[in-house]
Amino acid sequence: MKLNLKGEGKKHIQEIIKLRRHFHQYPELSGEEFETSKKVQEKLREYNIPFTTGYAKTGILGVIEGGRPGKTVALRADMDALPITEETNLPYASKKKGTMHACGHDAHVAMLLGTARLLNETKDKLSGKVLLVFQPSEEITPIGGAGPMLEDQVFAEHTPDVIFAQHVWPDLPVGQVGVLPGPMMGASDRFIVEIEGSGGHASMPHQTVDAIIVANSVIGNLQTIVSRNVNPVDSAVLTIGRIEGGYRYNVVADKVTFEGTIRTFKNKTKQMVKERFQSIVQGVTDSMGAKAKIEYYDGYPATVNDEQWANHIKRTSQQLLGPNSTPVVEPCLGGEDFSRFLLKYPGAYFWLGTAIPGVIKQNPLHDPMFMLNESAIQIGMELMAQIAIDALNHFQVEVEQSELQSVLGKVANFQ
Ligand code: NI
Repeated sequence: MKLNLKGEGKKHIQEIIKLRRHFHQYPELSGEEFETSKKVQEKLREYNIPFTTGYAKTGILGVIEGGRPGKTVALRADMDALPITEETNLPYASKKKGTMHACGHDAHVAMLLGTARLLNETKDKLSGKVLLVFQPSEEITPIGGAGPMLEDQVFAEHTPDVIFAQHVWPDLPVGQVGVLPGPMMGASDRFIVEIEGSGGHASMPHQTVDAIIVANSVIGNLQTIVSRNVNPVDSAVLTIGRIEGGYRYNVVADKVTFEGTIRTFKNKTKQMVKERFQSIVQGVTDSMGAKAKIEYYDGYPATVNDEQWANHIKRTSQQLLGPNSTPVVEPCLGGEDFSRFLLKYPGAYFWLGTAIPGVIKQNPLHDPMFMLNESAIQIGMELMAQIAIDALNHFQVEVEQSELQSVLGKVANFQ
């Protein structure tokens, strides 16, 4: 009979919510997840799940060996918090001023521990292996934590045949799951531009190269990339989030710096936007007699789900949460480090609905008022476990079918 974990999380939910609140109270920034990592290790030890650590400093790989041989499914949770001061006034709000789990990674870690418990309890019935990947530094693009974990050979001994991750999502109600075949999250690049003109007296502009006027032209022209160069059926965003320059009202500014981000889904679009960006900044600046220095950082690639595995998540969600649990969703241009795992291994990423009931405008991720609905936690832990079980079963059926084919082939040859 097929293993079904619906409702099984209930017996652990108190502990998992307590853990989530603990992580929430003691958030750690990217690359500094030492206490979080220690707590995860302590729990894995308590659950008798073997693990190795030290990947990208604080990353952990837990391994649940099933009772029978089979393929390998990896499940990933990110662990880091953001440099934001929490304003929720929750009883378990962050105890660290200037650091907050405003992206729900506290819940991701707690849920994966819950999933680990559920899978470990039933491991004798599993055909294959489940890898628990606790990943640091998701929030520091472009380096991130997935790339460094791979460089540290996290999968040298156990190689995933498929990998999954979930992210809490305030725009979906609890009990709903957002998943798409193909691009789900965007590529996110970052740039800093310094424009250097020459300063002087505000009354004698002819003796200067006004960096503010140059920057103004550059920024105006950059807006034509998305409106005039990107194919209207593709998506791109170019946002300048900060600008700085000048001294006082009667001085022509010699220098302006601005920085921003470029988001795209398709690699082809990304390369085109990047090239147009560089040529507009250099071209406009040159034509106005100023100089430009560009720092361009290629960030996370787009998160692109394999169709087969996106549909797998959909099927499992519908079986566990009902036929209407996977509404149509639009992709999002936020960046996600899980994309690096998806470049190397097949798999898919999904959003777990965590909307606060009765609130029309949810506070978004990365907001000092971001909150998540804890009733989604049991769903998240059961769903991840069920996705892993169903994937192992799927592989098992494939193996059995190919064995059957080869037996039938031999019989046919014999005849
Ligand atoms: Ni996040």
